[in-house]
This record gives sequence, structure tokens and C-alpha cells, in this order.
Amino acid sequence: DEQELLAQFESTIGHHDRIEPRDWMPDGYRRTVVRQVAQHAHSEIIGMQPEGNWITRAPSLRRKATLLAKVQDEAGHGLYLYSACETLGVSRNELTEMLINGKQKYSSIFNYPTLSYADVGVIGWLVDGAAICNQVPLCRTSYGPYGRAMIRVCKEESFHQRQGYELLATMMRGTDEQRAMVQESVDRFWWPALMMFGPPDDDSPNTAQSMAWGIKRNTNDDLRQRMVDMTVPQANALGVTLPDPDLRWNEEREAHDFGQPDWDEFKDVISGNGPCNAQRIEHRRRAWEDGAWVREAATAFAARSAGVADQ
Ligand code: ACO
Repeated sequence: DEQELLAQFESTIGHHDRIEPRDWMPDGYRRTVVRQVAQHAHSEIIGMQPEGNWITRAPSLRRKATLLAKVQDEAGHGLYLYSACETLGVSRNELTEMLINGKQKYSSIFNYPTLSYADVGVIGWLVDGAAICNQVPLCRTSYGPYGRAMIRVCKEESFHQRQGYELLATMMRGTDEQRAMVQESVDRFWWPALMMFGPPDDDSPNTAQSMAWGIKRNTNDDLRQRMVDMTVPQANALGVTLPDPDLRWNEEREAHDFGQPDWDEFKDVISGNGPCNAQRIEHRRRAWEDGAWVREAATAFAARSAGVADQ
């Protein structure tokens, strides 16, 4: 009965074992995993747009090939994540409709424009760096298909982060103009990158329950701290300044103190009013509508093939 199933579920969570698609789970757990994995999938898919913006203008064939491969990886991540989500009984069509109708969110970071080529490097370094901080612990998330998808995603994100860092290191060895371009991009992306970890813990409605269920393994503020501590030495090595006057090493805590992002701006962006929200969704809607004939043809073909097999 229900009591026994719940006890079994809680014992699995307690032992840090995985919940699998056919296991019984509380409705709230299912809803929370669907919400988080869907948002994650949407972020990967929408995240193709800001960098895709520079594919035709990459400065060399080598840079173009690398960027193209990276953006394709993001599409792949979206597909694994949609598949993980489908194991919980929601279809990819439904998920895409919810993205386009604004019923589900995607990461705030992809609502900022990419104004210079240095943004490609900074997105790799800071945005994919933040993604790694957030996602490595998610390899141990309690929902099996999500955790397993994260393993491959993290390997690829780590390549993305390195290509970003290497691109910036190359620009920093270049001209004064190139160095200024990198610094300007870091100034624009630093705070939005820290916002990726979500609101502060005392203003995060989902963290406590998601941690109790093992869906999240760390709080938003813990991961943000980890990101800052990881990034400061890399910024020093690159020779760029992080735009935070409160940033300093705290001997006692053995961690950096740092300022807070503008949380009003964050709320605006996640409620649909960031600089590029309308453009991102419009682009996705157009691609979805333009692809309707492919989905119809594939469905008709599958139905006909099934008919042939039946005969
Ligand atoms: N962008 C957009 N929405 C956000 C963000 C963000 N950066 N951070 C928090 N939110 C939303 C939450 O989804 C939640 O909204 P909802 O209840 O309508 O779904 C609300 O703000 C409150 O936040 P939390 O209670 O802290 O939400 P949650 O526990 O889900 O934590 C977090 C947010 C940390 C982003 C978590 O969902 C997570 O770890 N997700 C997986 C990682 C991910 O999605 N990465 C995508 C970007 S990385 C990349 O693709 C390169």
C-alpha cells in the first residue's frame, strides 16, 4: 500500500540510491524533477542562440569549427535531458509547448545579448564554468536518468569551458583592443553568471525540499561560493578584473567574500522582461512552427511502417 511504497522511496533516498522511472514516487517529487529537468533542457536549447549568433562571424575556420561543435553539443544536451524528462510521462512536444507559452522557464543567462566576439570566450569560461559547478554535483542527483545524462553533459561542458578560456587567453596575448574587448565582456557577464545559481538560499522556495529528496545536492549559495573561489585564480591568470569592489579573500573562512548580484534585475529576467527574452522565445517558436512538416512526415512514415510490419 501507499505507506509501504513511501517508506521504500524514502529508504532509497536515504541510502543515496537512485529512483528509476518505474519506481513509485510521490507526485511532488515527480513534478519537481520534471520542472527542473525541463528547465535544464530548455536552457540548453535556448542557449544555442546567443553563441549561434557568432558562427557566421568567427574570425577563423578553426574558431568557427570549434564554435559549431560546441553549439551542436548544446543541442545534444537538450535532447538527452528531454529524453530523461519523458521517462516521467511528459512528452517532448508538451515540454516545447510549455517553453513557447512561457509556462516553463529556462536559465536567465541566455536572455543577455552577445555583443562582441569576446562574448563567445566569456560564455565558455564563465557560463559553462557556472554550469559545471552546478552540474557536477547533479551527477549524483536522486533521479537515475537525470544523473546519468549529467555525466556526459559535464564531460562536454568541461571541453566548452576550456575552449572559452583558451580563446580568452589568446585574445589577452593580442592587442590592447582585444584585451579591452575581453574586459568589457567580463564586466557584462560576471553578475549574470552568478545569477545562474538562482536566488539566495533564504529566498529560494524549492531548495529545502529538493535537497531533502536528493534532487539538488547543494544549495544555490554554496555553489555560487564555489564558482567565485574557482574563478578568481583563473581571472588572475588571464589578467582580467572581476567587476566586484567587495571581492576579497577571507582568511578565516578560507573563501572569498563577494558582493550580491542585482536581484531585482534577476526577477525581471526570469519573469520574461530581460533584454532578449522576447527575441529568444520568438526564434524558438518560429523554428518549432517551421519544423511542423518534418514532425508530421515522420509520424506518417512511422504509422505507415507500423502498418507494413503488421501485414
Ligand atoms: N534562471 C531562470 N530561473 C531560475 C534561475 C535562473 N538562473 N534560478 C532560479 N530560477 C527559478 C526557479 O526555477 C524557480 O522557479 P519555478 O518555481 O517557477 O520553477 C524560482 O526561480 C526559485 O528558485 P529556486 O527555488 O532556487 O529553484 P530551484 O531549486 O529549481 O533552483 C536551479 C534553481 C539552481 C537553477 C536548479 O533548478 C538547477 O540546479 N537546475 C539545473 C541546472 C540548470 O538548469 N542549468 C541550466 C543552465 S546551464 C546551461 O545550460 C549551460
